[in-house]
Amino acid sequence: SKENLNKLKELRLEALAASDKDDLLLTKGLDYHTIVKWGDKISDQDTFGFNNDFTCFIPLNKNNPKDGLLWVNHEYVNPLFASGFNYREYKNPLQHRTLEQVNKEMYEVGGSIIRVKEENGKWKVVENDPLNRRITAQTPIQLNWDTPIKGKSTVIGTLSNCSGGITPWNTFLTCEENYDGFFGETIYDENNIATKEPSSYGWENFYDYPPEHYGWVVEINPKDGKAQKHVALGRFAHECCTLYELEDKRVVAYTGDDKVNEHLYKFISSKPGSLKEGTLYVADTKNGKWLPLDWESQPILKAKFKDQTEVLIRAREASKLLGATELNRPEDIEIDPITGNIFVTLTNNKRKKDYHGSILKIEETNGKFDALSFKATTYKAGGEENGFSCPDNLAFDLSGNLWMTSDMSGSAMNKKNGPYLPFKNNSLFVIPRFGKKAGEVIRVASAPRDAELTGPWFSPDGKTLFLSVQHPGEQTKDLNSPTSKWPFDEDNIPKSAVVAITGDLIEKMNKLNQIED
Ligand code: FEO
Ligand code: CA
Ligand code: CA
Ligand code: CA
Repeated sequence: SKENLNKLKELRLEALAASDKDDLLLTKGLDYHTIVKWGDKISDQDTFGFNNDFTCFIPLNKNNPKDGLLWVNHEYVNPLFASGFNYREYKNPLQHRTLEQVNKEMYEVGGSIIRVKEENGKWKVVENDPLNRRITAQTPIQLNWDTPIKGKSTVIGTLSNCSGGITPWNTFLTCEENYDGFFGETIYDENNIATKEPSSYGWENFYDYPPEHYGWVVEINPKDGKAQKHVALGRFAHECCTLYELEDKRVVAYTGDDKVNEHLYKFISSKPGSLKEGTLYVADTKNGKWLPLDWESQPILKAKFKDQTEVLIRAREASKLLGATELNRPEDIEIDPITGNIFVTLTNNKRKKDYHGSILKIEETNGKFDALSFKATTYKAGGEENGFSCPDNLAFDLSGNLWMTSDMSGSAMNKKNGPYLPFKNNSLFVIPRFGKKAGEVIRVASAPRDAELTGPWFSPDGKTLFLSVQHPGEQTKDLNSPTSKWPFDEDNIPKSAVVAITGDLIEKMNKLNQIED
């Protein structure tokens, strides 16, 4: 209505000051309510997992944006809370682990599918809905590949699920990021001799699952929970996977390797709707070229690896052989819905003294997503001048405003001095596209202590921003004195949770191309 439009016009987009308060703070015009938190029952068998990250909503019926399935990643566990194991009690902690602890932790990672509905402005989990389910580190998952890996075509579990994406055919993508923390990693010396590097969680001492079964992009069917790992997209610390469907229904998938001095990739399918047939490319951002990770056509890869499967498993090494550009930890990737430019957060690279990171802009040649050349420029640099540090997740709203979260690691933030001190707690920002503040980075939410805000995802009508509050109280050393008490339950235990952010400001931002700010 006209009255409502006038009310929205009057609402100013005001920046929230940096804060170290142990709470989820929101700027004027935003509200939140909690949808689900760690340990909540989602069915008679299952509970909501630990450390929720990526969220992705698919309506059950296209015409009703208020009833659908929410996928939520559970990235990792803090054993102190999840299984009662305290690393700090032991000199050699991994010698003191028990099978019972490891089984508990394996249940807490992976993802959740929950049916959520909005009634009277509040989103709620439909408890015991037949579609509610957990995918965990114990769930059998198919490899979408013709060659078995370490003798298997079905592997056990998914873990380190950080961010993700959605497919044009409405399934969820969940990305395995720091997989080496759970079952270790196989590393190769200059003579191509393999050795095994142990993990920090020590799960490999209880289950003999090869590291090569992790580090993939995983697709989940929302309706039956069936999962498959897409080998063709390569193996590394995938932050996310962002898909674009070409006119002929082939798909382009962008995905980054969130590790210092690793790379940015894109997969171009050769068949409609396939994440198996096609070519994986790695970015040379200096020369603006996508380099094919193709064993058949690249003699330098043929000389080192025995086949294409090995190239994909050891994508990092193959990329370096081809001369791909080492980047400062590529995190989330989003495609600008208006210009088609691709935005990639480079969170930081302390080894190269890049403490605050930046947002990289990729313009594909002639705007074609299957182009093999592009132009890369810095869109925005982190630091005090722009008011943010360590960009992580991105999301565009319906008007094309860019929302962004920050992730300064907890231990670095807690130091009494250092580069992160002025920024205080991790935050959510918006970069408006229109109005007087267009292009500015404006803080609109501040996270509880030790937490990061992750997984921003807009409901199809743009009226709700689903957001994860991940790992509040992560630096806790003693359960009797947690560093955060958010969400302030009676048990005083900090808990990750998914919240719904609503309010006039979200509505205004989604109409900003109609309302002059
Ligand atoms: Fe799990 Fe790259 O953040
Ligand atoms: Ca992340
Ligand atoms: Ca995103
Ligand atoms: Ca991060």
